[in-house]
Amino acid sequence: MDYEAFLRLVKTRRSIRSFKPDPVPDAYVDQIIEAARFAPSGANSQPWEFIVIKDKETKEKIAALVTEQGEPGRKLEVAREEDLRFPGTHGPAREPGFKSAPVFILLCGDPRTKEAYPLFTTLTRGDSHFISGLASAFLYMTLAATALGLGSQWVSATGGPLVKPLLKQLLDIPHGLEIYDMLVIGYTASQPAGRFVRERAEMIHHERFDKARYRNDKEMRDYIVRLRKG
Ligand SMILES: Cc1cc2nc3c(=O)[nH]c(=O)nc-3n(C[C@H](O)[C@H](O)[C@H](O)COP(=O)(O)O)c2cc1C
Repeated sequence: MDYEAFLRLVKTRRSIRSFKPDPVPDAYVDQIIEAARFAPSGANSQPWEFIVIKDKETKEKIAALVTEQGEPGRKLEVAREEDLRFPGTHGPAREPGFKSAPVFILLCGDPRTKEAYPLFTTLTRGDSHFISGLASAFLYMTLAATALGLGSQWVSATGGPLVKPLLKQLLDIPHGLEIYDMLVIGYTASQPAGRFVRERAEMIHHERFDKARYRNDKEMRDYIVRLRKG
């Protein structure tokens, strides 16, 4: 594969939040996990476990938990200045669009794999290597899904304080495993609008950080407001 094809794949990947109910072939799910299996992880610890969920009732229970957990967040968001409020997180609760997606893949990690790191890392880096490894696998899954013509959504609410313990109970996840995030996959029902991506020149510093380009607080606030517009 050449760089152009790779970049096309990267640019094609979007967060899809509306799915057709059409089933996804099991072979595609296997191919997505096959890619994730080769993701980099600290000391090659490969902390991941993948739970593939296709059962309608289970998916509905997960969506209901996510909706319920979202409620305090919705109340909290109005405490912010209006132009900084996260889109879609205030006003009446809505069921997550991902509910209709045919497959959820919940990514879990086994923290005991941290023993694979050098002791210095284990003692000094907290969870950062563990989380980075899981994030790598997750990202590989999103790219594999895109390459297979599928849409995907990164659902991080599964790691939240209400969903996490109840999901462990619902899915028989051993107490010692950590739930990371959940990838929802399916055929795209509607394409997202264009996205705002920072300019390359704005973020590259040669040899040392160019302090003249360190954004002040006003610029950072304007940037967040700009992000909100999509
Ligand atoms: C750590 C992380 C958590 C995310 N959590 C969610 C989520 O819970 N729900 C969601 O719809 N998108 C989630 N996203 C997706 C981002 O909102 C999305 O990547 C970003 O807005 C850029 O849009 P794009 O993916 O279409 O390029 C998450 C992404 C990351 C990396």
